[in-house]
Amino acid sequence: MLLEVRDLHVEFHTRDGVARAVNGVSYGVDAGETLAVLGESGSGKSVTAQAIMGILDMPPGRITGGEVLFQGRDLLKLKEEEERRRVRGAEMAMIFQDALSSLNPVISVGDQLGEMFVVHRGMSRKDARTKAVELMDRVRIPAARERVKQYPHQFSGGMRQRIMIAMALALEPALIIADEPTTALDVTVQAQVMDLLAELQREYHMGLILITHDLGVVADVADRIAVMYAGRIVESAPVHDIYKAPAHPYTRGLLDSIPRLDQKGQQLYAIKGLPPNLMHIPPGCAFHPRCPLARDVCRTDEPPLYEVSGARGSACHFWRECLDG
Ligand SMILES: Nc1ncnc2c1ncn2[C@@H]1O[C@H](COP(=O)(O)OP(=O)(O)OP(=O)(O)O)[C@@H](O)[C@H]1O
Ligand code: SF4
Ligand SMILES: [Mg+2]
Repeated sequence: MLLEVRDLHVEFHTRDGVARAVNGVSYGVDAGETLAVLGESGSGKSVTAQAIMGILDMPPGRITGGEVLFQGRDLLKLKEEEERRRVRGAEMAMIFQDALSSLNPVISVGDQLGEMFVVHRGMSRKDARTKAVELMDRVRIPAARERVKQYPHQFSGGMRQRIMIAMALALEPALIIADEPTTALDVTVQAQVMDLLAELQREYHMGLILITHDLGVVADVADRIAVMYAGRIVESAPVHDIYKAPAHPYTRGLLDSIPRLDQKGQQLYAIKGLPPNLMHIPPGCAFHPRCPLARDVCRTDEPPLYEVSGARGSACHFWRECLDG
């Protein structure tokens, strides 16, 4: 495994109490593989990613348990700041939803891209500029040679997101984490940017963790899906298994809420109720107040991640029933 997260726990200590944002997450991704991480707002997708990348706000955040094994080494145990920076700066990269706030507004995109090569590869400014143009070509920004001198605000949302992808790719990392990389874009631009990311991931044989709300976009690009609810993985499976038949009622709810072109005009299904307050996660199965299959045992016994098959797990006491539809 390129990256393996094991039993990760993260809490936030605030004036109102302790929010248990990540409660024992385990997932992994191999080189050349795409793992999609899915779940409603507040389920802990980004916090898990921030803990992996070493960019968690601490305080108020606190990692209270677990391991983040990257190429076999536990990143949470790296002592030297320099070692941490070397691994996380060069071997792993992150793409965020909002390029405008991640890019520096007063530095040209060429200089920002070039900086990666100056700092990490010790290149001259001139060579770094050449590399920047190459990268902009690579992510298909038209007229890269001219546009390399422009500033972030002079690019459209889709083009800025391509620049973010170029920044992430610059040092040819082994792993990229993309946190809702297309959410802020128009639907057609979303598809183009997602296709580009998937193509580059294959070409560079990188591991990709793709965090998204949108089950619709992952079908074509992901190998595996991990579904999160209240800071836990509730289902983890190869993408085709999940589309064929979900083994967790929450996954079923997410699938049923995808708009379908062949059912225009039909009322869209929505999972009833709201995600739990992370300061007061319900006992037993955290999903029970919203679950159509819930019964007494669900209110008292927390389901472990049951093995559905070799490559698939579900944290539902009644996964068989769910699987049978
Ligand atoms: N800086 C912070 N301070 C306090 N609590 C935080 C902080 N960041 C995250 N949290 C808590 O962790 C929870 C999970 O946040 P996270 O950003 O991981 O959700 P998410 O699954 O990425 O949601 P979204 O789809 O909206 O991005 C939040 O609901 C919040 O309670
Ligand atoms: S364990 Fe019970 S409440 Fe939880 S998802 Fe399964 S059936 Fe629903
Ligand atoms: Mg998020």
